[in-house]
Amino acid sequence: GGRVRTRHLQACKDEGRRFAMLTAYDHLTASLFEQSGVDVLLVGDSAANTVLGESTTLPMTVEDLLVFTRAVSRGARRALVVADLPFGSFENSPEQAFTTAARFLKEGGAHAVKIEGAAQTAPTVRHLSSHGIPVIAHIGFTPQSEHALGGYRVQGRADDEAARLLDAARALEDAGAFAVLMEMVPAAVAARVDEALRVPTIGIGAGAATTGQVLVWQDALGLTQGRTPRFVKQYARLADELRAGVEAYVDEVLTGAFPTEQHSF
Ligand code: KIV
Ligand code: NA
Repeated sequence: GGRVRTRHLQACKDEGRRFAMLTAYDHLTASLFEQSGVDVLLVGDSAANTVLGESTTLPMTVEDLLVFTRAVSRGARRALVVADLPFGSFENSPEQAFTTAARFLKEGGAHAVKIEGAAQTAPTVRHLSSHGIPVIAHIGFTPQSEHALGGYRVQGRADDEAARLLDAARALEDAGAFAVLMEMVPAAVAARVDEALRVPTIGIGAGAATTGQVLVWQDALGLTQGRTPRFVKQYARLADELRAGVEAYVDEVLTGAFPTEQHSF
């Protein structure tokens, strides 16, 4: 079929179906993941961690994320490509956000953007979505605010926090967000938000009631070194596979077992 559109994600919500979203940062993984049924590819600023080796997402620049977005767009023939707006590239004004977001569509080839922030980002979401840029609003734990939030912590546990989260989700939907993404939110709270919204919800560490789920691909496929968050499920052990393959290659080079006549001219 053709390109996944925001209206197809809305149809998932309307018809009680789910969709899978996964991060991608290059054309090869973008192509493989969409062939495997991933409908939405997120060029997340998590690339700061997964690709560039930073310890937070704060250092990600627009220029660097544009490079990854272009690569993903080239690899994605079917999936909807969503790019994150990096920290510091959108908060000053809706106009600043539009200028940045437009670059991700014009230069990056993305189809939509994702913005971190609660109710205070509603005017920005309204400005972008009313000027032709589809927006996913990212609420709950927002990694760009890690220092203000006091580290990686579940958001919306207390009743007043949960109520604020629900209010924010409603305000962002009202502002035109085509989906609301919730990170590290109690499952029951996320379920209440999903029920209250017309648009699809997407969860990461937000339980099973959301319309879609998203994970960082290196976490989900077992490439990330060290501890991964509780909400990650590992579907493959790629680090082990890579190590074994590379060790075999090195071993055969050192012993002279590779190359043989078969690999020679
Ligand atoms: O950057 C990212 O990968 C994200 C997801 C974790 C939602 O924002
Ligand atoms: Na992100």
